[in-house]
Amino acid sequence: MNIAWCITGAGHYLEESFAVLERLAKSHRITTFLSGSGEEVVKAYGLWGRLKKISPGSYMQEIFTHSKQGFSSPSTGRFFLGKYGVLIISPATTNTTAKIAHGISDTLVTNAASHAMKCGVPVYICPVDRAAKKITLPYYIDKEVCRRCKTCEPANVCERGAIISFRIDLLRCNSCGICEAACKYHAIIGGKKVKIKPRKIDVENLKKLKKMDVIILEHPREIIKAAKER
Ligand SMILES: Cc1cc2nc3c(=O)[nH]c(=O)nc-3n(C[C@H](O)[C@H](O)[C@H](O)COP(=O)(O)O)c2cc1C
Repeated sequence: MNIAWCITGAGHYLEESFAVLERLAKSHRITTFLSGSGEEVVKAYGLWGRLKKISPGSYMQEIFTHSKQGFSSPSTGRFFLGKYGVLIISPATTNTTAKIAHGISDTLVTNAASHAMKCGVPVYICPVDRAAKKITLPYYIDKEVCRRCKTCEPANVCERGAIISFRIDLLRCNSCGICEAACKYHAIIGGKKVKIKPRKIDVENLKKLKKMDVIILEHPREIIKAAKER
């Protein structure tokens, strides 16, 4: 079966979604669709290499990014060709959940959802941030600790040139952590956990989404069962 997988810009359930899609890639062809933020977080959490193994680039195994699409998201036209057995959106940010719940399709991912629904392709969505929890932040520079050294060692050791003007560019960072050890002032922090709670509006949007013609997943592990059903 050909599976369309959409990734949006959430750190929550990202690793879990990857683990499941890696399993499915052994027996299915996976096309990946990334929202603009999805592309950023996949890179920031160091997952781009793993993504290229899930969707290595041949037909029906491409990685489509919002950043390289036209406004009308032409690659999602493939849903009209009946090529996909299922569409999985995991993780789905509160932003994407809100948009789909309100019928908005202005990104690659929300267009994929809209097209799939119009064509009768089953849509499985795994929304994030449904309960209070702790999340792990990507690497960042604590501006109050940073001394803005004339020679910034972390910037020097970063092979990807991700530290520019004492800021980490998420699109370049691959989360290797080499910079953290290179800063003698400990201004670079990785793996910090912060507590977050859902907003009322997110809870309401999710209720709205549940009334639509989509299947809501509680956890990415349910994707395996969903794929077997199809
Ligand atoms: C590192 C990082 C992690 C994020 N994690 C989440 C998250 O877990 N849940 C969420 O709703 N938004 C999260 N965001 C914010 C979204 O990326 C942002 O709202 C974005 O506009 C969502 O766009 P999209 O829905 O098109 O992907 C995160 C942002 C960053 C930079």
